[in-house]
Amino acid sequence: MILTIDGPAGSGKSSTARAVARRLGFRHLDSGAFYRALTLAVLEAGLQPETWEGLDGPGLDALDVAGRPGPDGFRLFIGTRDVTDALRDDRVNRHVSSIARVPAVRRWLLDRLRDAGRGVDLVADGRDMGTVVFPDADVKVYLVADPNERARRRLAERGIEQPDRAAIESEAARLQDRDRADSERPVAPLRRAAGAVEIDTTDLTFGAQVEAIVELVRSRRD
Ligand code: CDP
Repeated sequence: MILTIDGPAGSGKSSTARAVARRLGFRHLDSGAFYRALTLAVLEAGLQPETWEGLDGPGLDALDVAGRPGPDGFRLFIGTRDVTDALRDDRVNRHVSSIARVPAVRRWLLDRLRDAGRGVDLVADGRDMGTVVFPDADVKVYLVADPNERARRRLAERGIEQPDRAAIESEAARLQDRDRADSERPVAPLRRAAGAVEIDTTDLTFGAQVEAIVELVRSRRD
């Protein structure tokens, strides 16, 4: 069975998908981590932004990025180095959408993401899981939330529990810039997939949004 969870930046997709996967005994595929690992590899290789659009299959192979199944979803590697815990770095945040819009990057990852999902029950989260990567998924969810609430959650993840208004607004602006880039790109833009159930998590607790999705999957499975 395949469940896809797509939505804008900071809507809680990855943490929700991880918790839902644990509850259901499914594997979790965080596709954003693959885009982030490629971005980190491009930055570490010192490739200049003006060359990114020209990246091709062999160039991407040479970056030696791979996702390997771990106890909890996938671990991301550059060569033999496990970079999973370095992927939320600010430098990666700033550049990932520019890498993710390159058609050769999306083609390169498409096969790898589909391979990752073969033969297992899967919860896949990202921007185009329900539209492009797994269009035949059994259940599709589209998560949304108010931008300021998304910004508050992102800041809380970084240990800032009582941010002032300016901090919330600047984080919300950064998230919305990324949403704009992801929604306006020509290839696999951020969209709600046909048939996806939209869940607005602005006023939901984390537990409640996990529960809502687990129930949805169970109701479709029975
Ligand atoms: O967790 P957050 O919503 O901040 O982002 P993410 O899921 O880790 O994705 C990071 C970036 O990767 C996004 O802003 C997109 O540019 C790109 N991405 C994508 O293009 N397609 C996907 N399926 C997943 C991520």
